[in-house]
Amino acid sequence: MSISNKMKMFAKNSSWIRKMFEEGARMKAKYGADNVYDFSIGNPDAPPPSQFDKILQEVAQDNTPEVHGYTSSDGHLWVREAIAKKISAEQEVTVTGHDMLMTYGAAGGLNIALKTILNPGDEVIVLAPYFVDYLHYIDNHGGTSVVVETDKEFNLDLNAIGAAVNNKTKAILINSPNNPCGQIYSESAMAALGSLLQEASEKFRQAIFIIADEPYRKIVFDGHQVPSIFKVYRNSIIVTSYSKDLSLPGERIGHLAVHPEIDEKEQLLQALGLANRILGFMNAPAIMQRAVGAYPDGSVDISLYTQRRESICSVLQEAGYEFTKPKGTFYIFPKSPIADEVKFVAMLQDQKILTVPGRGFGMPGYFRIAFCAPDEVIKKSSEGFNRAMAMVS
Ligand SMILES: Cc1ncc(COP(=O)(O)O)c(C=O)c1O
Repeated sequence: MSISNKMKMFAKNSSWIRKMFEEGARMKAKYGADNVYDFSIGNPDAPPPSQFDKILQEVAQDNTPEVHGYTSSDGHLWVREAIAKKISAEQEVTVTGHDMLMTYGAAGGLNIALKTILNPGDEVIVLAPYFVDYLHYIDNHGGTSVVVETDKEFNLDLNAIGAAVNNKTKAILINSPNNPCGQIYSESAMAALGSLLQEASEKFRQAIFIIADEPYRKIVFDGHQVPSIFKVYRNSIIVTSYSKDLSLPGERIGHLAVHPEIDEKEQLLQALGLANRILGFMNAPAIMQRAVGAYPDGSVDISLYTQRRESICSVLQEAGYEFTKPKGTFYIFPKSPIADEVKFVAMLQDQKILTVPGRGFGMPGYFRIAFCAPDEVIKKSSEGFNRAMAMVS
C-alpha cells in the first residue's frame, strides 16, 4: 500500500462530523430528505445577504485585464485596508492593511500561522472541546497538541492551562465563540490568560502566541460580545473567515491579522505570506477577496439563528436534556443521558436524528447538534429526542 502510515491512521480515525454527515446522505436517500433530521455538520443555511449577491455579480462582471490573475500572497492591499478598519473597530486596537493577509478560509489561516511559528516538537495547547481538525493542522507542521479541558460550563480553566505550559509551549489555540459548545470566553478570563502567558514567556524566554480562531465572532446572542484579544495580549494572531457569517464556506475566503506590536512583526508577516504560497494556496481566491473587501461589515441575518437556538433549546428542555445555552455559534453541546455518548448518538440515529459524539471534539459524554437547519426540522425532531430520552430514563 502506498498511502503513508500516518494517513492510514488518520483515515481510520476519520472525523466523526464527516462520518455522520455521510450517514445523513445515505439515510436521506433511503428515507427521503424530509424524514431525516440532520444536525451533523456546520454548513450554514442562512442565505448570504442580498447585498453580497449584488456585489458578487458586479465583481464577476469586471473584465479588467488580469482580474483573475495571481494576487500578492498577502492579498490585494485595498481589500486588506478595508478589512483592517473593521478589525480595528472590533479589536479596539488600530490595525493596518500591512498587519494582515487574506487567506483560504480560517483553515488556511490556521495552517499558515502554525507553519510560520512551529519548530518540530513545539507544543500547542488546544482547549477541549475543540474543532477536531486543529489536531491535524498542528501535526501538519510538526507540532504536538496538548489538550487541556475547560471547566464544567466550558469556561477557561486557568489553573489547568498554567499547569500545561512549559518551555516547549509555542502557542495556545483559542476558539470563541466555540464550536461545539457555543461558549464565549469572558474579557476577564482572556485578560488573565494574557497575564499568565506573558509571565510564562518571560520565564521560558520565548514568545508564546495566542492564536484566536474567530469564524463565529458575529454569530452571538442576547447582546453577548466577543472580547478583544489584541487589547489583552501583544503576541496574538487572529484568524477568521467569511464561511459562517456570510455563509460562504465553499468559497474559501478568510483573513489573518497580527497584533500591530507583535514580536518580530516584519519577519513574521513575510513568513506568513511565504507560508500562504508554499502551502499551495498561492493567494486567497481573487474574486472572493474583491467581494468581501467591498462589503467588510456584512453579515447574514443573525436573528435566524437566534430563533433556531430558541427552538432547539425548547425541544431539548422539554425532553429533559441537560445543556448550557450557547452564547454564540449555531451549535449546542448537550450532555449525553448515558455515559457512552456514541451509543446514545446511535439511538438518536435510530430516530433518524443525526448528531455528532462529543469524543469527536475531545469531550466524550456529550454530543453536538448543529442547529443551522430549518426551524420546522428542529421542531419535528422533538418526538425523536423525546423517544430516545424515554428509552434511557
Ligand atoms: C472553529 C472552526 N475553525 C475553523 C473552521 C474552518 O472554517 P473555514 O471554512 O473558515 O476554513 C471551522 C469550520 O467549521 C470551525 O468550526
